[in-house]
Amino acid sequence: MNKFSVAKKNIDTILVLDFGSQYTQLIARRVRESNVYSEILPWDINDEKIKEISPVGIILSGGPNSVTNSFTPRIPQSIFDLNIPILGICYGMQTLAEQLGGQVISSDEKEFGHSELEIINSSLLFEGMQKKINVWMSHGDQVKDLPTEFNLIASTRSAPIAAMEHKTKPIYAIQFHPEVTHTTDGKVILDNFIKNICGSNADWNMNDLISERINEIKNKVGNNKVLLGLSGGVDSSVTAALLHKAIGKKLTCVFVDNGLLRKGEAEAVMQTFKDNMSLNVIKSDSEDVFLRHLKNIEDPEQKRKIIGRTFIDIFDAEALKLKDIKFLAQGTIYPDVIESSGSESNEARVIKSHHNVGGLPEEMKLDLVEPLRDLFKDEVRNMGSKLGIPIEMLNRHPFPGPGLGVRIIGEVTKEKTKILRDADHIFIEELIKFGLYDSVSQAFAVFLPIKSVGVVGDERRYAEVIGLRAVETVDFMTAKWAHLPYKFLEHVSNRIVNEIEEVSRVVYDISSKPPATIEWE
Ligand code: XMP
Repeated sequence: MNKFSVAKKNIDTILVLDFGSQYTQLIARRVRESNVYSEILPWDINDEKIKEISPVGIILSGGPNSVTNSFTPRIPQSIFDLNIPILGICYGMQTLAEQLGGQVISSDEKEFGHSELEIINSSLLFEGMQKKINVWMSHGDQVKDLPTEFNLIASTRSAPIAAMEHKTKPIYAIQFHPEVTHTTDGKVILDNFIKNICGSNADWNMNDLISERINEIKNKVGNNKVLLGLSGGVDSSVTAALLHKAIGKKLTCVFVDNGLLRKGEAEAVMQTFKDNMSLNVIKSDSEDVFLRHLKNIEDPEQKRKIIGRTFIDIFDAEALKLKDIKFLAQGTIYPDVIESSGSESNEARVIKSHHNVGGLPEEMKLDLVEPLRDLFKDEVRNMGSKLGIPIEMLNRHPFPGPGLGVRIIGEVTKEKTKILRDADHIFIEELIKFGLYDSVSQAFAVFLPIKSVGVVGDERRYAEVIGLRAVETVDFMTAKWAHLPYKFLEHVSNRIVNEIEEVSRVVYDISSKPPATIEWE
């Protein structure tokens, strides 16, 4: 039985057949955005499974192979036998063309990046679009000769056959990627296929996704107990809420307060999840252990390693106290899968280091539950809000695993964490008050390892220096320093120096990434 069949009964399904493209999940995500259910299956899936899913249409993904080589993936004959609409994308187009009698060549002119597509013949696929659009290409091979039953519908300069359609059947193929945002009207093309050509009802939504995931968790976990490391970040929080809905008290969350959290963080996590949402959360107050291990340590990498290792030890100790745990839940989301292993099809499951499960004791032998593994961050946030997690919690800036440990330059002490926590709180509180919080991607304070002279009243004050950092970024790989208003910075600086007597000076970081990283350590 299909794992989701209980929930998705009577819901139209678009099957995405995966040929190994880095964009396969993005295709599925676009289908979801159109309120249609989609399932991704590997290209060599058996016929039984396809019949069981009974899709209303099939999208063939791109892939890294060349159809000019033998033994590369091909579309199973059973797909054609279904007589339902097919859309081939990139490699999907090439194998479609080759299997139906066309010719594919390895072109000398490889095309990566933007290209102008000219629509030559009208097609349902391009309905409602301009004649010329910008498309995103990423291919070496291309179709040289159309299969006999096909018409050409669009070209680019380097790929004269950039889109084709079958003369009598609803089979379409495009060389470019409509699923990436660089293709203008990519959504229109996919919508034309999903809704107009396949006739899918747009009646699927986030609540259906939640029901599916709940069924999936129930089926997998049965009557067993599950453990989750709750960090208070979006991903682990949404995983916790989802599991709680699925299996209630069979879920135990461990929240480690390492003393390196933002002000009020531990209380907020406990209140949201334990008090308001009635989750089973064990809090481990471990500030002393972390600070003890960090004593006299100045090197950033060493600090990171110590924090990671200490976290593992504490999490392990808490986990071992619990009896009969069979599963470990993780808030892995799709970008983590890509970053860790480079590809979804890679079976090796690399675990996010700050979730710290790499070191779980051998005797626990836990199976993983990762219900968000194919979702993108904004989908996870959306799911979280439907599950009742407060919006403020879901929209918070990211916070690094090692926490304030990498925002205190040099040795970490309890006194410094207190000063930094207070300064950071003032900064964030004012960003929210001024309506600037959502306009920056991440903002925080840094404790600098120097003292400076100041004057307060008539008194000389030789005291600490706090750095403020705020950046704008989409992917956190590059970032621009945020041009926060001077008036705002002045106000924050005044508050910090006036309210925290250990601080005599505040500076603002005007470095972008690269070369500077977002965090200081
Ligand atoms: P950098 O400093 O590398 O940070 O420009 C990029 C993003 O990653 C976050 N970051 C971390 N997150 N564990 C995490 O979970 C870490 O060790 C870590 N180091 C940096 C950082 O806050 C920023 O959002």
